Amino acid sequence: MAGTKAVITAGPTREAIDPVRFITNRSSGKQGYAVATALRDLGADVTLISGPVALPAPAGVTRVEVETAEQMLAATLQSAAGADLLVAAAAVADYRMTDVAAHKIKKHSDTLSLALQRNPDILATVRAAQPGLFMVGFAAETERLAEHARDKLARKHLNLIAANQVGAGLAFDVDTNALQVFWADGQQAIAQGSKQAVAQQLAELIAHHYLKATPAA
Ligand code: PMT
Repeated sequence: MAGTKAVITAGPTREAIDPVRFITNRSSGKQGYAVATALRDLGADVTLISGPVALPAPAGVTRVEVETAEQMLAATLQSAAGADLLVAAAAVADYRMTDVAAHKIKKHSDTLSLALQRNPDILATVRAAQPGLFMVGFAAETERLAEHARDKLARKHLNLIAANQVGAGLAFDVDTNALQVFWADGQQAIAQGSKQAVAQQLAELIAHHYLKATPAA
């Protein structure tokens, strides 16, 4: 993959509720960071767009730190503009507050409703800007993994999608994972293993499909 510019997104996003609270999810960034490291090891020039995580930047990788989905979108659009390949392992918040409270919300009543609005879809926005970019998405599913993953592959116009079963003790914030990778006319399983081992196999699969789709690369 020498000479290939790859952008990886990883980790959660964080959406403010008020000055001291936020909405987020259990993503640790471990899987995305391992993919960034594995693509670096294959010779790619890697930029890692990272939500807030407790991991050091992998050596030799350019890290861009962001907090919100909108910041991750802006950073990804900018980095992807000069890139060949995007792998979106981040767990992006689907919704953010319609209005972030200026002051800490007080507990005046027994229930509290928060008005949320949809965040932009990063993959869809990048695809619209760069129809020729080789794009790999992830799918985090609690049920009907293959059906939902294939739907996202088609709807988001991806080249590949790596689906993981999530739920109690699976994928999010643990050290192991397993993937089912789908493309238009095929699929391949990557068996349960460390996130590093899974990432190495995924990176090799991505490289194989990328080089096939980009003969001049
Ligand atoms: O970080 P870890 O603790 O190691 O856990 C790894 C992981 C479970 C987070 C990772 O393997 C994973 O599955 N990442 C994707 C999680 C996710 O949000 O999946 P999704 O099915 O909701 O989203 C589908 C795809 O669209 C993803 O590539 C996502 O990055 C992308 N997306 C989602 C929402 C949004 N607004 N814009 C997007 O581009």
